[in-house]
Amino acid sequence: MDSRDFDPRRFEVIEHPLVQHKLSILRDKDTGTKQFRELVTELAVFEGYEAMRDFPLEDVEVDTPLERTTCKRIAGKKVAIIPILRAGLGMVDGILTLTPSARVGHVGMYRDPVTHEPHQYYCKFPPDIDKRTCLVVDPMLATGGSLTAAIKFLRDAGVKDIRCLTLVSAPEGVKAVLDFDPEVRLFTCALDRQLNESAYILPGLGDAGDRIYGTK
Ligand code: URA
Repeated sequence: MDSRDFDPRRFEVIEHPLVQHKLSILRDKDTGTKQFRELVTELAVFEGYEAMRDFPLEDVEVDTPLERTTCKRIAGKKVAIIPILRAGLGMVDGILTLTPSARVGHVGMYRDPVTHEPHQYYCKFPPDIDKRTCLVVDPMLATGGSLTAAIKFLRDAGVKDIRCLTLVSAPEGVKAVLDFDPEVRLFTCALDRQLNESAYILPGLGDAGDRIYGTK
């Protein structure tokens, strides 16, 4: 399976050379916690930039030191970043560098180690979430269970524009997310081969949360 198996209007692999270069370092088992964390932040910046590429612009008058001119500014798009705890937290600062006034909501999920089913233990969104473009961030899209659950919470809260940002995705997870919600858009830096029997992505990069927080 490759990216051509999915609708290009809803699924995009960020092929930029800088992204692919940084992702290779991220995958390396010898990359330490500090560098891993920095790379997750940097990749989130690149990915956030792509995910906001179609934000609408409006004219604004600006006085330069020489004359008045008509420029562009983003037309009233309000953003919320929704990290899926805990690994998604690693991508928040990168996106906040692009949209410093974004609100941040949180969805806490853990995977049952036996069934691999997601369980929610925390969910808190900004009060005007339904008026915001939501960027749901989670470095690894494996089965899609956590991401589809987060999408459901956001749709139930009335959110119309949901964009999911992951760093590494398994085909099974991409299919699950795109099938679950007919409108959601998904950005990733790599579409990997498959899941193993423990629902880890192959070749992947291991447990993103453990590598970000140095817990293993
Ligand atoms: N979560 C991770 O951190 N890594 C995987 O490979 C799958 C899910």
